[in-house]
Amino acid sequence: MSPFNLDGKHVAITGASSGFGHHFAGVLAGAGAAVSLGARRVEKVQARADEITASGGKALGAALDVTDKASAEKFFAAAEAALGPVDVLINNAGIEAGAKTYMMIDEDDWHSVIDTNLKSAWLMSKLYTERVVANKLSGGNIINVSSITDTRTIKGQFPYAVSKGGLTRMTEVLALEAPRYGIRVNALAPGYILTDVSRVLLESEMAPEFMKGIPLRRFGEFEDLDGPLLLLASDASAYMNGSVVVVDGGHICASL
Ligand code: NAI
Repeated sequence: MSPFNLDGKHVAITGASSGFGHHFAGVLAGAGAAVSLGARRVEKVQARADEITASGGKALGAALDVTDKASAEKFFAAAEAALGPVDVLINNAGIEAGAKTYMMIDEDDWHSVIDTNLKSAWLMSKLYTERVVANKLSGGNIINVSSITDTRTIKGQFPYAVSKGGLTRMTEVLALEAPRYGIRVNALAPGYILTDVSRVLLESEMAPEFMKGIPLRRFGEFEDLDGPLLLLASDASAYMNGSVVVVDGGHICASL
Protein backbone atom coordinates (compact mmCIF):
# COMPACT_ATOMS: atom_id res chain seq x y z
CA MET A 1 0.00 0.00 0.00
CA SER A 2 1.22 3.54 -0.77
CA PRO A 3 2.64 5.34 2.27
CA PHE A 4 0.45 8.29 1.22
CA ASN A 5 -2.77 6.28 1.43
CA LEU A 6 -5.54 7.92 3.48
CA ASP A 7 -8.06 5.06 3.66
CA GLY A 8 -9.95 5.24 6.95
CA LYS A 9 -8.83 8.81 7.74
CA HIS A 10 -11.22 11.70 8.21
CA VAL A 11 -9.76 15.07 7.20
CA ALA A 12 -11.44 18.39 8.07
CA ILE A 13 -10.52 21.39 5.89
CA THR A 14 -11.33 24.99 6.77
CA GLY A 15 -12.02 27.57 4.06
CA ALA A 16 -12.85 24.85 1.54
CA SER A 17 -15.32 26.81 -0.59
CA SER A 18 -12.68 27.95 -3.10
CA GLY A 19 -8.98 27.90 -3.96
CA PHE A 20 -6.65 25.48 -2.20
CA GLY A 21 -9.26 24.09 0.21
CA HIS A 22 -11.65 23.23 -2.62
CA HIS A 23 -8.79 21.55 -4.52
CA PHE A 24 -7.36 19.77 -1.46
CA ALA A 25 -10.77 18.14 -0.83
CA GLY A 26 -10.56 16.28 -4.14
CA VAL A 27 -6.92 15.29 -3.68
CA LEU A 28 -7.49 13.93 -0.18
CA ALA A 29 -10.69 12.11 -1.15
CA GLY A 30 -8.83 10.64 -4.13
CA ALA A 31 -6.29 9.18 -1.69
CA GLY A 32 -9.10 7.52 0.29
CA ALA A 33 -9.94 10.08 3.00
CA ALA A 34 -13.41 11.05 4.12
CA VAL A 35 -13.47 14.85 4.02
CA SER A 36 -15.40 17.49 5.94
CA LEU A 37 -15.39 20.86 4.22
CA GLY A 38 -16.11 24.00 6.18
CA ALA A 39 -16.72 27.55 4.99
CA ARG A 40 -19.12 30.43 5.47
CA ARG A 41 -20.59 29.89 1.98
CA VAL A 42 -22.25 26.62 2.89
CA GLU A 43 -23.84 26.08 -0.53
CA LYS A 44 -20.35 26.02 -2.09
CA VAL A 45 -18.92 23.42 0.29
CA GLN A 46 -22.10 21.38 -0.01
CA ALA A 47 -21.76 21.41 -3.81
CA ARG A 48 -18.12 20.30 -3.55
CA ALA A 49 -19.06 17.55 -1.09
CA ASP A 50 -21.81 16.40 -3.48
CA GLU A 51 -19.27 16.15 -6.33
CA ILE A 52 -16.97 14.02 -4.19
CA THR A 53 -19.82 11.81 -3.00
CA ALA A 54 -21.04 11.38 -6.59
CA SER A 55 -17.62 10.08 -7.60
CA GLY A 56 -17.64 7.48 -4.82
CA GLY A 57 -16.01 9.39 -1.95
CA LYS A 58 -17.25 10.30 1.51
CA ALA A 59 -17.73 14.02 2.12
CA LEU A 60 -19.65 16.57 4.15
CA GLY A 61 -20.06 20.28 3.51
CA ALA A 62 -20.94 22.29 6.61
CA ALA A 63 -21.13 25.93 7.68
CA LEU A 64 -18.01 27.25 9.37
CA ASP A 65 -16.82 30.70 10.34
CA VAL A 66 -13.36 30.10 11.77
CA THR A 67 -13.46 33.36 13.71
CA ASP A 68 -16.53 32.25 15.66
CA LYS A 69 -16.11 29.67 18.42
CA ALA A 70 -19.77 28.57 18.40
CA SER A 71 -19.63 28.03 14.64
CA ALA A 72 -16.38 26.03 14.96
CA GLU A 73 -17.89 23.83 17.67
CA LYS A 74 -20.95 23.17 15.50
CA PHE A 75 -18.72 22.33 12.54
CA PHE A 76 -16.74 19.72 14.51
CA ALA A 77 -19.97 18.24 15.89
CA ALA A 78 -21.48 17.97 12.38
CA ALA A 79 -18.28 16.47 10.95
CA GLU A 80 -18.05 13.91 13.71
CA ALA A 81 -21.74 12.99 13.49
CA ALA A 82 -21.50 12.47 9.73
CA LEU A 83 -18.08 10.86 9.27
CA GLY A 84 -16.72 9.96 12.71
CA PRO A 85 -13.87 11.55 14.68
CA VAL A 86 -11.61 13.92 12.73
CA ASP A 87 -8.11 12.48 12.30
CA VAL A 88 -6.51 15.40 10.45
CA LEU A 89 -7.30 19.11 10.73
CA ILE A 90 -6.18 21.46 7.95
CA ASN A 91 -6.24 25.12 9.00
CA ASN A 92 -6.50 26.57 5.52
CA ALA A 93 -8.94 29.51 5.74
CA GLY A 94 -7.22 32.80 5.06
CA ILE A 95 -7.74 36.33 3.75
CA GLU A 96 -5.59 39.32 2.86
CA ALA A 97 -6.26 43.01 3.28
CA GLY A 98 -5.42 44.17 -0.25
CA ALA A 99 -2.15 45.80 -1.25
CA LYS A 100 -1.72 47.83 1.92
CA THR A 101 1.14 48.94 4.14
CA TYR A 102 0.98 49.34 7.90
CA MET A 103 0.09 53.01 7.33
CA MET A 104 -2.83 52.14 5.09
CA ILE A 105 -4.65 49.49 7.09
CA ASP A 106 -7.21 50.34 9.73
CA GLU A 107 -8.22 48.41 12.83
CA ASP A 108 -10.89 46.47 10.95
CA ASP A 109 -8.25 45.22 8.46
CA TRP A 110 -6.00 44.24 11.35
CA HIS A 111 -8.70 42.36 13.25
CA SER A 112 -10.18 40.56 10.26
CA VAL A 113 -6.84 39.32 8.88
CA ILE A 114 -5.29 38.40 12.22
CA ASP A 115 -8.49 36.73 13.47
CA THR A 116 -9.03 34.74 10.26
CA ASN A 117 -5.44 33.72 9.55
CA LEU A 118 -3.94 33.43 13.02
CA LYS A 119 -6.39 33.34 15.91
CA SER A 120 -8.56 30.81 14.07
CA ALA A 121 -5.70 28.32 13.78
CA TRP A 122 -5.27 28.37 17.55
CA LEU A 123 -9.03 28.15 18.17
CA MET A 124 -9.62 25.30 15.68
CA SER A 125 -6.55 23.45 16.99
CA LYS A 126 -7.75 23.78 20.57
CA LEU A 127 -11.25 22.50 19.77
CA TYR A 128 -9.77 19.69 17.67
CA THR A 129 -7.44 18.69 20.52
CA GLU A 130 -10.37 18.53 22.96
CA ARG A 131 -12.06 16.08 20.58
CA VAL A 132 -8.94 13.99 20.06
CA VAL A 133 -8.72 13.62 23.83
CA ALA A 134 -12.46 12.95 24.28
CA ASN A 135 -12.41 10.33 21.50
CA LYS A 136 -9.14 8.78 22.79
CA LEU A 137 -7.68 9.09 19.29
CA SER A 138 -4.03 8.43 18.60
CA GLY A 139 -2.17 9.81 15.62
CA GLY A 140 -3.72 13.28 15.57
CA ASN A 141 -2.41 15.58 12.88
CA ILE A 142 -2.74 19.33 12.29
CA ILE A 143 -1.60 21.05 9.08
CA ASN A 144 -1.46 24.84 9.05
CA VAL A 145 -1.47 26.51 5.64
CA SER A 146 1.10 29.24 6.15
CA SER A 147 2.93 31.02 3.32
CA ILE A 148 6.43 32.01 2.26
CA THR A 149 5.45 35.50 3.44
CA ASP A 150 6.06 34.07 6.92
CA THR A 151 9.75 34.80 6.42
CA ARG A 152 10.15 36.88 3.23
CA THR A 153 7.73 39.41 1.90
CA ILE A 154 7.36 42.58 -0.13
CA LYS A 155 5.95 45.96 0.86
CA GLY A 156 2.17 46.12 0.99
CA GLN A 157 1.41 42.73 2.50
CA PHE A 158 0.70 44.04 5.98
CA PRO A 159 -0.97 42.49 8.01
CA TYR A 160 -1.11 39.28 5.92
CA ALA A 161 2.63 38.60 6.22
CA VAL A 162 2.47 39.36 9.95
CA SER A 163 -0.29 36.77 10.37
CA LYS A 164 1.65 34.12 8.43
CA GLY A 165 4.83 34.81 10.43
CA GLY A 166 2.72 34.17 13.52
CA LEU A 167 1.17 31.05 12.03
CA THR A 168 4.53 29.45 11.28
CA ARG A 169 5.70 30.26 14.79
CA MET A 170 2.41 28.87 16.14
CA THR A 171 3.10 25.65 14.22
CA GLU A 172 6.44 25.30 15.99
CA VAL A 173 5.03 26.04 19.43
CA LEU A 174 2.11 23.66 18.88
CA ALA A 175 4.60 21.02 17.74
CA LEU A 176 6.15 21.34 21.17
CA GLU A 177 2.89 21.26 23.11
CA ALA A 178 0.50 19.03 21.12
CA PRO A 179 2.39 15.69 21.14
CA ARG A 180 1.29 15.11 24.74
CA TYR A 181 -2.20 14.74 23.26
CA GLY A 182 -0.94 12.42 20.52
CA ILE A 183 -0.99 15.18 17.90
CA ARG A 184 1.76 16.31 15.55
CA VAL A 185 1.69 19.69 13.82
CA ASN A 186 3.29 20.88 10.59
CA ALA A 187 2.87 23.72 8.13
CA LEU A 188 2.60 23.89 4.37
CA ALA A 189 4.12 27.14 3.09
CA PRO A 190 3.20 27.70 -0.56
CA GLY A 191 4.68 30.37 -2.78
CA TYR A 192 2.46 32.38 -5.11
CA ILE A 193 -0.45 30.55 -6.80
CA LEU A 194 -3.37 32.39 -8.43
CA THR A 195 -6.44 32.48 -6.17
CA ASP A 196 -8.55 35.25 -4.61
CA VAL A 197 -5.86 35.70 -1.95
CA SER A 198 -3.04 36.38 -4.46
CA ARG A 199 -5.05 37.97 -7.29
CA VAL A 200 -4.15 41.58 -6.42
CA LEU A 201 -0.45 40.85 -6.92
CA LEU A 202 -0.46 38.15 -9.61
CA GLU A 203 -2.79 40.09 -11.89
CA SER A 204 -0.96 43.38 -11.40
CA GLU A 205 1.49 45.02 -13.80
CA MET A 206 4.38 43.94 -11.62
CA ALA A 207 3.59 40.21 -11.93
CA PRO A 208 6.01 39.44 -14.84
CA GLU A 209 8.87 41.21 -13.06
CA PHE A 210 7.96 39.51 -9.79
CA MET A 211 8.02 36.10 -11.49
CA LYS A 212 11.66 36.66 -12.50
CA GLY A 213 12.52 36.30 -8.82
CA ILE A 214 11.35 32.67 -8.86
CA PRO A 215 14.20 30.35 -9.90
CA LEU A 216 11.71 27.99 -11.62
CA ARG A 217 10.35 31.05 -13.54
CA ARG A 218 6.65 30.37 -13.00
CA PHE A 219 4.01 30.84 -10.37
CA GLY A 220 2.74 27.67 -8.72
CA GLU A 221 -0.22 25.57 -9.81
CA PHE A 222 -2.67 23.88 -7.41
CA GLU A 223 -1.25 20.48 -8.43
CA ASP A 224 2.20 21.52 -7.20
CA LEU A 225 0.82 21.22 -3.67
CA ASP A 226 -0.65 17.72 -4.08
CA GLY A 227 2.44 15.67 -3.16
CA PRO A 228 3.44 17.81 -0.16
CA LEU A 229 -0.19 17.82 1.03
CA LEU A 230 -0.46 14.03 0.87
CA LEU A 231 2.90 13.72 2.61
CA LEU A 232 1.77 15.87 5.55
CA ALA A 233 -1.73 14.37 5.78
CA SER A 234 -0.63 10.74 5.69
CA ASP A 235 1.41 8.47 7.92
CA ALA A 236 4.30 8.97 5.47
CA SER A 237 5.13 11.99 7.65
CA ALA A 238 4.64 10.19 10.99
CA TYR A 239 7.99 11.50 12.32
CA MET A 240 7.53 15.04 11.00
CA ASN A 241 6.52 17.54 13.68
CA GLY A 242 7.14 21.28 13.58
CA SER A 243 8.25 21.16 9.94
CA VAL A 244 7.46 23.93 7.51
CA VAL A 245 7.24 22.46 4.02
CA VAL A 246 7.99 25.22 1.52
CA VAL A 247 6.57 24.77 -2.00
CA ASP A 248 7.61 27.86 -3.95
CA GLY A 249 9.83 27.01 -6.93
CA GLY A 250 12.80 28.29 -4.92
CA HIS A 251 11.34 31.77 -4.45
CA ILE A 252 12.66 32.29 -0.93
CA CYS A 253 16.13 31.21 -2.02
CA ALA A 254 16.21 34.42 -4.05
CA SER A 255 15.47 37.86 -2.68
CA LEU A 256 11.76 38.56 -3.13
P1 NAI B 1 -9.10 31.55 -1.36
O1 NAI B 1 -9.59 32.95 -1.12
O2 NAI B 1 -9.59 30.88 -2.60
O3 NAI B 1 -9.41 30.60 -0.14
C1 NAI B 1 -9.54 31.05 1.19
C2 NAI B 1 -10.76 30.42 1.76
O4 NAI B 1 -10.90 30.78 3.13
C3 NAI B 1 -12.03 30.88 1.03
O5 NAI B 1 -12.81 29.75 0.71
C4 NAI B 1 -12.73 31.75 2.06
O6 NAI B 1 -14.11 31.74 1.92
C5 NAI B 1 -12.27 31.05 3.34
N1 NAI B 1 -12.47 31.90 4.53
C6 NAI B 1 -12.12 33.18 4.69
N2 NAI B 1 -12.54 33.62 5.90
C7 NAI B 1 -13.16 32.56 6.51
C8 NAI B 1 -13.81 32.39 7.74
N3 NAI B 1 -13.92 33.39 8.63
N4 NAI B 1 -14.32 31.17 8.04
C9 NAI B 1 -14.25 30.15 7.16
N5 NAI B 1 -13.66 30.27 5.95
C10 NAI B 1 -13.12 31.47 5.63
O7 NAI B 1 -7.51 31.64 -1.36
P2 NAI B 1 -6.41 30.49 -1.23
O8 NAI B 1 -5.21 31.04 -1.89
O9 NAI B 1 -6.93 29.18 -1.62
O10 NAI B 1 -6.13 30.51 0.35
C11 NAI B 1 -6.06 29.33 1.15
C12 NAI B 1 -4.92 29.50 2.12
O11 NAI B 1 -3.68 29.47 1.40
C13 NAI B 1 -4.94 30.83 2.88
O12 NAI B 1 -4.59 30.61 4.23
C14 NAI B 1 -3.86 31.62 2.17
O13 NAI B 1 -3.32 32.61 2.99
C15 NAI B 1 -2.88 30.53 1.84
N6 NAI B 1 -1.87 30.82 0.83
C16 NAI B 1 -2.24 31.20 -0.43
C17 NAI B 1 -1.26 31.45 -1.37
C18 NAI B 1 -1.58 31.86 -2.76
O14 NAI B 1 -0.67 32.28 -3.50
N7 NAI B 1 -2.80 31.72 -3.21
C19 NAI B 1 0.17 31.34 -1.05
C20 NAI B 1 0.43 30.91 0.31
C21 NAI B 1 -0.56 30.66 1.20
